[in-house]
Amino acid sequence: TISKELQAIHDAHELLRKFYHHLLVNTKEGQHALEYLLERGFSRESIDKFQIGYSLNSWDFVCKFLLKREFAPEWIEKAGLIIKREKDGTYFDRFRDRIMFPIFDRNGNTIAFSGRSLGEEPKYLNSPETAIFNKSKILYNFHLAKPHIRKIQQAVLFEGFADVIAADRSGVENGIATMGTSLTEEHITLLRQNVQSVTICYDSDKAGIEAAYRAGNLLTDADFKLKVAIMPDGLDPDEYIKVFGPEKFRNEVIGASHTWMGFKFLYFRRGKNLQHEGDRLAYIEEILREISKLTKAVEKDHYLRQLASEFSLSLDALKQQQKQIFFAEK
Ligand code: UTP
Ligand code: MN
Ligand code: MN
Ligand code: MN
Ligand code: MN
Repeated sequence: TISKELQAIHDAHELLRKFYHHLLVNTKEGQHALEYLLERGFSRESIDKFQIGYSLNSWDFVCKFLLKREFAPEWIEKAGLIIKREKDGTYFDRFRDRIMFPIFDRNGNTIAFSGRSLGEEPKYLNSPETAIFNKSKILYNFHLAKPHIRKIQQAVLFEGFADVIAADRSGVENGIATMGTSLTEEHITLLRQNVQSVTICYDSDKAGIEAAYRAGNLLTDADFKLKVAIMPDGLDPDEYIKVFGPEKFRNEVIGASHTWMGFKFLYFRRGKNLQHEGDRLAYIEEILREISKLTKAVEKDHYLRQLASEFSLSLDALKQQQKQIFFAEK
């Protein structure tokens, strides 16, 4: 029956999570993977807490391991753990020689894996969509972060698993991440049920900053109170923590995050030379457009003054142009 199949898919994931973890921490086969993680700064404590594991460099380890335990191959295939060969109908393991990050549902059940390569592309290989796993609904680490998120009424949104885990090790326990997809309406709904304030802490490279701008727009549209944390030199949070340490991460990145408007002041500046008149005027126009989206008069006034003072412009002229934009876009 269907429910027997679902149960089998759940059971297979639980069994494998435990075995992958065992392979990583207790065996010779997993030793290079463990050394890689420790070298990157993962602590033994985090490795246990997040149940990180290792999948053997084998084409049929999972096949044999689960078949021996009387799982039907069709079920394991539907679980996304093995793949059927077109030509002869035999199966092979999806995850081979990878660091395994179990993905948990809200109740802490393992429902999928993401495997980080130690060499080969792609860098991360995720479980496919299955009866129990839908990427657009899952936020990595939500089950552990939820009590912290609710308690401090604040969530920190990261890009990657390594970032969530490094932040957790640094005392930032309210971190979550999407799984290589952009933020969906389902993610936003899940967040909205638990919290009103979100800090985006994506990678500070070009892709991360663009993604932060997109996610930020979605989150402000959904009425979240928003902040955006930025790191220097295109670092991602995990790299930043490795270089500068947990305390600086808490105080100078998370603690010093920008307001959404403050982030946009920086965002529209990128790639422009504000010494040049054309770039400068384009920038001022973009910021005025953002200011005209604000609903609070005091906020509008605050940012208009900031702009006027930075570029030595008359406040009246800025106000006038802002009003023109405001009415043109109505
Ligand atoms: P990044 O490229 O920033 O990876 O992708 P990372 O998290 O810094 O990984 P490390 O530190 O090199 O291990 C951010 C996220 O995008 C997804 C993963 O969820 C990753 O954590 N991703 C990335 C994929 O799904 N597949 C990929 O091939 C790469
Ligand atoms: Mn790390
Ligand atoms: Mn990235
Ligand atoms: Mn990254
Ligand atoms: Mn990284």
